Amino acid sequence: MAAEGPATRQVQVAAHLRLLKLKEMFNSKFGSIPKFYVRAPGRVNIIGEHIDYCGYSVLPMAVEQDMLIAVEPVTTPTLQLANTNPIYLDFSACANNIQIDQTKPLWHNYFLCGFKGIQEHFGLSNLTGMNCLVDGNIPPNSGLSSSSALVCCAGLVTLTALGMSLSKVELAEICAKSERYIGTQGGGMDQSISFLAEEGTAKLIEFSPLRATDVKLPSGAVFVIANSRVEMNKAATSHFNIRVTECRLAAKLLAKQKNLRWDTILRLEEVQAKLGVSLEEMLMIVEDALHPAAYSPEEICRCLGMSLEEFRTQILSPNTQDVLSFKLYQRAKHVYSEAARVLQFKKICEEAPDNIVQLLGELMNQSHVSCRDMYECSCPELDQLVDICRKFGAQGSRLTGAGWGGCTVSLVPAEKLSSFLANVQEAYYQRIDGGSAPEKQSLFATKPGGGALVFLEA
Ligand code: GLA
Repeated sequence: MAAEGPATRQVQVAAHLRLLKLKEMFNSKFGSIPKFYVRAPGRVNIIGEHIDYCGYSVLPMAVEQDMLIAVEPVTTPTLQLANTNPIYLDFSACANNIQIDQTKPLWHNYFLCGFKGIQEHFGLSNLTGMNCLVDGNIPPNSGLSSSSALVCCAGLVTLTALGMSLSKVELAEICAKSERYIGTQGGGMDQSISFLAEEGTAKLIEFSPLRATDVKLPSGAVFVIANSRVEMNKAATSHFNIRVTECRLAAKLLAKQKNLRWDTILRLEEVQAKLGVSLEEMLMIVEDALHPAAYSPEEICRCLGMSLEEFRTQILSPNTQDVLSFKLYQRAKHVYSEAARVLQFKKICEEAPDNIVQLLGELMNQSHVSCRDMYECSCPELDQLVDICRKFGAQGSRLTGAGWGGCTVSLVPAEKLSSFLANVQEAYYQRIDGGSAPEKQSLFATKPGGGALVFLEA
């Protein structure tokens, strides 16, 4: 086993101090000592963007940044939530009457998603309350999954307070489902990695059934996260749900063209599975069956033989009702090609050829181009940041997470790390910060961290 270096000890000391501070703040807020603590990490998705909700495998790893909650179960039915960051206001509600307001993605609603998910899973109607103090250090709206980490942390808090247990897979599935109470129709990647992550390894996450397999990342290269500082809250806009809808429609149209039962099909993966063909063949099928020009609702209804009314009520979500054009060809092309890149990435990691870093980097670059041009989930700042990262030594760089802002992830040869950080700092951040000291949260190297856990002592 490797000896603990001073850097590891520094991290441990910082984590301990954070806990002690949280305990103290809890005491001054609620006048008591927490009974237990729960942490759940954020994640960086290395490759496999916007394909989890289409049924395809993704390849994320947990980051060390997390949501940490200090908890004291109480005997009254009141749920009291507070946050160490004063911009997030206190919240309290009756534990037996949880309402999640989809019109405003306020911080406490993410806690309520996890809470409600567990409550519903066990069919409990008479819950006692809790006092909770939340401390998060994942930059919000940055594509590192701070919201899912809060949902997962709240789910595990609730389970622990009830004295019940569930497997990590069950918890991940419950939290993925309950996060949709916020109104976005995400896949299960973020919640799965938050629970199933293990220190030192990235994971291939596969769905139906949910499972996670270790993926050994190359030694000699480092993953670096860089925040574009463009904030994107996927629950506050309709971009995300529009893409989910476009993928669903592409799946239905492809199924119809191929004489499958299109009405029960929801995901692009189901079309591939029903046809029993490869991802490469699916890409050819898309070429034949869909056209690059955007589809209008009327054209889709004609193709599927449904009325506009059925289209609105059965297919569109509340925040996509007014969308007038759907790019089905481009979205399907992205999904099938990205799904293939994930499998290639895993294979290269297993085979570990001499030029592994170059090959993985190329796949990451292709992924970014596809996200930018086919899925249209990038933005000028992300594109610029990716270019800067490549210019200063990254073998591969791409947006990570939902996109439209947030972070990039770059694969950087270890020997170039310090010059890379200095140059990216100067080329991207100095312009924004006007030369002030670098903000540590915006540009940092990261290693695969561990998953969610409960502990008793500060
Ligand atoms: C968000 C969703 C995930 C996934 C990514 C894009 O993080 O919560 O399920 O779809 O976007 O890959």
